[in-house]
Amino acid sequence: MGKVMIFDHPLIQHKVSLMRDKNTASKEFRDLAREVAMLMTYEITRDLPTKEVEIETPICPARVPILAGKKLAIVPILRAGLGFVDGMLEIIPSARVGHVGLYRDPETHEPVEYYCKLPEDIDQRKIIIVDPMLATGGSAIAAVDFVKEKGAKDIALMFLIAAPEGIEALTSKHPDVDIFIAAKDDHLNEKAYIVPGLGDAGDRIFGTK
Ligand code: PRP
Ligand code: URA
Repeated sequence: MGKVMIFDHPLIQHKVSLMRDKNTASKEFRDLAREVAMLMTYEITRDLPTKEVEIETPICPARVPILAGKKLAIVPILRAGLGFVDGMLEIIPSARVGHVGLYRDPETHEPVEYYCKLPEDIDQRKIIIVDPMLATGGSAIAAVDFVKEKGAKDIALMFLIAAPEGIEALTSKHPDVDIFIAAKDDHLNEKAYIVPGLGDAGDRIFGTK
């Protein structure tokens, strides 16, 4: 059974609050997305295995822990997930990056696929799917379907803001995945936008509206 973790770190909370503000312009929004991605990645990677190696410090020989080589893949859901990739790669530079292209049909709110390119050895990697918003859950469920079809087994998802409806839908369909979020909001409105949310994440990042 996967876990749902809400990061209540004050720095993460502060930065997400700035992102929610409608007066925060795209450049600042992108900078904040990068910073929050770094902070959340630091928390998400807390359980990565380590192994001891022998080195020499300037003082003496020592056995010290290093990462045990768990292979990672970051999979942003296009397009808004792209805003988080650079920050994540700053913390885990050796991670591979796959892409899943999905958009929500404005009428039905159902996800429509337009792109999927994943690392070949995805079955041997820990996958972190990233998207700022978990609203109805349709896009996230489709993204997990894709990576599972390609063989992924160890899957986590990272969102800035999640609606209770999305968490319920995603955990019901994929109970084995871990979910990391910065904030759980109140509900979805009639257009399936998260309330209070931050608006359309893709438009906020790329300045398209
Ligand atoms: C947004 C967001 C998620 C999706 C969440 O993308 O980035 O991918 O909506 O909604 P859901 O949980 O109801 O599926 P959008 O479809 O607006 O595409 P975009 O990133 O290209 O703007
Ligand atoms: N997608 C967004 O970008 N924002 C929402 O509130 C819901 C879906």
